[in-house]
Amino acid sequence: MAIFSDDDDIQKPIKPAKKEKSENLESKEIAFDKSFENNIRPKKLSEYIGQSALKNTLQISIDASKKRQKQIDHMLFYGPPGLGKTTLASVIANELDTKIKVTSAPALERPRDIIGILMSLKNGEILFIDEIHRLNKVTEEILYPAMEDFFLDMTTGKTQTVKTLRVPLPHFTLIGATTKAGALSGPLRDRFGIIHKLEFYTKEELTQVVLRTAKILDIEIDEEGAKIIAGRSRGTPRIANRLVKRVADYAIVKSNGKITKNTAQDALDALHIDASGLDSTDRALMNLIIEKYDGGPVGLETIAAALGEDAKTIEDVYEPYLLQEGFIQRTPRGRKISPQGYRMLGYKIPSAQQSLF
Ligand code: ADE
Repeated sequence: MAIFSDDDDIQKPIKPAKKEKSENLESKEIAFDKSFENNIRPKKLSEYIGQSALKNTLQISIDASKKRQKQIDHMLFYGPPGLGKTTLASVIANELDTKIKVTSAPALERPRDIIGILMSLKNGEILFIDEIHRLNKVTEEILYPAMEDFFLDMTTGKTQTVKTLRVPLPHFTLIGATTKAGALSGPLRDRFGIIHKLEFYTKEELTQVVLRTAKILDIEIDEEGAKIIAGRSRGTPRIANRLVKRVADYAIVKSNGKITKNTAQDALDALHIDASGLDSTDRALMNLIIEKYDGGPVGLETIAAALGEDAKTIEDVYEPYLLQEGFIQRTPRGRKISPQGYRMLGYKIPSAQQSLF
């Protein structure tokens, strides 16, 4: 399998992930970048931790596609960032022994961007479009017949002599990923055969992710150390993997390089990541609602402006975890702190809220 990335540059082939061996490394200070993510990415469905309902569905689709020698159905994965949507797409390509081209909606600005990619595909290959809810109308309309009948509708000539030409396309599979399934247009959503939400990971699943990543990076770690990192990763493998690297650096500098319960705790405390996995922005957001807005409700735009973040980042990156953990609530009039939220930050629950719970 070859992965063409970097997310918005589909022309640049990325070398197949190379296993890092400790003896190849100058030091354990491996830069955290795309190649780090590619190295630790699972290649097979059996190596992919968590999302068991989705994996079962996918295994059947993969087996059926192989047996029938037909491309796998178009798929839409949605859910908060960092849960492994791109990883899963590359696992599917690998399992089907086919190529995947990775791009994202903002890179598909002009009709020729999407037409160029579609025409470069071969039968059975996968096109992965990240942030698919951000496709513009023209690009979406090019995709409808492409997804449904594997045709491009091209027009030639000027007003009076205009002719529509149906250009056949290879039988490809589109995998779309989005953090906002609700923002996808109905006609586009209807063209996906499999639509699946990725869930936050449990602490046990993240512990497995941490142990697996540490092993690939040749970092010494014990189960207790892995559990501490897992518990502070906001249910998100991308965060867990980043923290493994940060904690490993800390362990090398401050002790013997091994990640234990104590080194993990000290390192994460130094990074201001508390035991619930909340970081400084999470806490600033909740403190703002409590201290400036009496616990809410307060509008998203107001929160974003006060924190100096954009509303989309607050909504897509920070809120999903705070909502899932029940620290904040969404109401028609804005965001509110829940009793758990007050408790988490060490505040007394206001009496008006106590009567409700
Ligand atoms: N790295 C990131 N996500 C992963 C997952 N779900 N399983 C294994 N390794 C991962």
